[in-house]
Amino acid sequence: MDKIIVIDFGGQYAHLIANRLRRLGFLGEIVQNNEPIINLKNKDIKGIILSGGPSSVYEQESPKISKEIFNLNIPLLGICYGHQLITYMLNGKVNKGSIKEYGQALVKLKPSRLFKGLGKKETVWMSHGDLVEDLPEGFDIIASSDYCKIAAVENTEKKIYGLQFHPEVTHTPNGMKILENFAGDICSCKKEWNMDNYLKEIRSDIKDKVKDKKVFLLVSGGVDSTVLFTLLNKSLGKNKVLGLHIDTGLMRLNESKNVEEVLKKQGFDNLELYDASESFLKALENVVDPEKKRKIIGNLFIDSIFDKSDKILSSDEWIIAQGTIYPDTIETKGTKNADLIKTHHNRVLKMQELINKGKVIEPLSQLYKDEVRLIGKKLGLPEELIERHPFPGPGLAVRILCNNKKAEDVSETEKKVKDIFKKSYVLPIKSVGVQGDSRVYKHPAVIDSEINWNYMEKLSTRMTNSVSDINRVLLIIRKKEGDFKLLKKTINSERVNLLQKADFVVEKILKEEKIYNKIWQMPVVLVPVSVNGGESIILRPVDSKEAMTANFSRIPENIVNKISKELLKIKGVDAVFYDITNKPPATIEWE
Ligand code: XMP
Repeated sequence: MDKIIVIDFGGQYAHLIANRLRRLGFLGEIVQNNEPIINLKNKDIKGIILSGGPSSVYEQESPKISKEIFNLNIPLLGICYGHQLITYMLNGKVNKGSIKEYGQALVKLKPSRLFKGLGKKETVWMSHGDLVEDLPEGFDIIASSDYCKIAAVENTEKKIYGLQFHPEVTHTPNGMKILENFAGDICSCKKEWNMDNYLKEIRSDIKDKVKDKKVFLLVSGGVDSTVLFTLLNKSLGKNKVLGLHIDTGLMRLNESKNVEEVLKKQGFDNLELYDASESFLKALENVVDPEKKRKIIGNLFIDSIFDKSDKILSSDEWIIAQGTIYPDTIETKGTKNADLIKTHHNRVLKMQELINKGKVIEPLSQLYKDEVRLIGKKLGLPEELIERHPFPGPGLAVRILCNNKKAEDVSETEKKVKDIFKKSYVLPIKSVGVQGDSRVYKHPAVIDSEINWNYMEKLSTRMTNSVSDINRVLLIIRKKEGDFKLLKKTINSERVNLLQKADFVVEKILKEEKIYNKIWQMPVVLVPVSVNGGESIILRPVDSKEAMTANFSRIPENIVNKISKELLKIKGVDAVFYDITNKPPATIEWE
């Protein structure tokens, strides 16, 4: 089959490029940068894309590739780091930019085969610190923005192209067209990939790997584990599959009961329930650090399998299946050159050891949520199951921010944000974000303003780009009278109950107002910032296609007001904020 190879330099979006190619009908396959060039001499390989990555080309340790790649006579497209690497290897010049640029930019395009069908000006997504400053011989500039003069280049004779921006993310609205021009027109790659063929491949792969063993799977009731449970049941038969739903005590209100009911309704009687809430809450009692929380929870999931039956982990009779999808892997530094953004619960050390022993299968690991949903649909699962908002494995634990320190002095940062918007301040808490393919843990800025989403978007991008100590911007929606005060708090059942109530109110209103399906996901986050003895709630509604990038959702003002009013009625809720940061620079979850 004709294919395009994506060489992974550790970019958060490397795999997304392959996903986009598949969506266009081309087979896209990922390889690491140390893949011997000889393996790329293959008549099926019609083009090669060099991905982005967190490194700088001029650092000695940064991932490189052999110059032999230029002798293959296969069209090349470098994206971000890939673009800089091509320049560097062909003796152009790459330097550190004076600022880091994250967010949308407007580029002016020159005529090129790569840009066929696009306008003279296009909005694109930038996420970089370094810049190409001098072109190698034989190259021309085909796109520029105000800040980035060499935003795209080409060498038509050698069919080598480079883009500083990311065509693979949805924030570059015509990015798919650019990838289609490259793969279809420039590389002459045939469209031979489709989901039906892929599903057949996954099913036969499951049978090959499981052979005569039995398969055990933790079923949270979310989209990924439900689709995988169904896929395993349909591919292997119910008697070879056992599902276990663990009530971690960190689920949504009444979630465990609902999961059981819904899956039984689907005819799955091979699902058992295990209430482990006491041990989860106990283990998290005094934990503050988000990474520690994630690791404790991931390990407890494995301990719970052991509690259930030590045979499952120790005997060769059983294989463990996990509903891991691609973003879970990449953000846990799952590929060679990627940076650790956060440890997903299904990638903790204990699980990694089982994976290394060959005890784990992850049939969905190459896919994104939208592709998993498509498989669910093909397997006949009802919409109410497939269209559920994603819910992270560690559950509400990563939506309850903890703190055991006095408030840091944020006055310097506050001065900088006030210079941009007068009625703004900085909250003394911190959350996780991703900037230039790396993890950052920083403060949010808060602005006090009327809702005007277009303006909010610009302000938020400007603040996170120019004030290096913040990675999110919030809008204060409603609060009780008084000043903010940082509390010392860790996870306890009282806080879990409070967040469950708040989360329930939000989901109920989204459904009543019929906007639940229009929003990709809406984490409701509890933060230990008090006004009147209670805590604060942050609403984090996002639009996304695959969770690798996201925009904050623009919920109509009347609904935002309704939600915040209802939330303030809950005893213990003092203030409601609305997160107006895109991903990057923030992540969807706060921890
Ligand atoms: P972030 O916060 O990284 O989230 O932008 C991307 C998507 O992944 C979900 N998420 C998780 N899912 N285990 C999971 O199964 C985890 O540990 C985990 N952490 C984040 C998150 O809810 C979002 O949909």
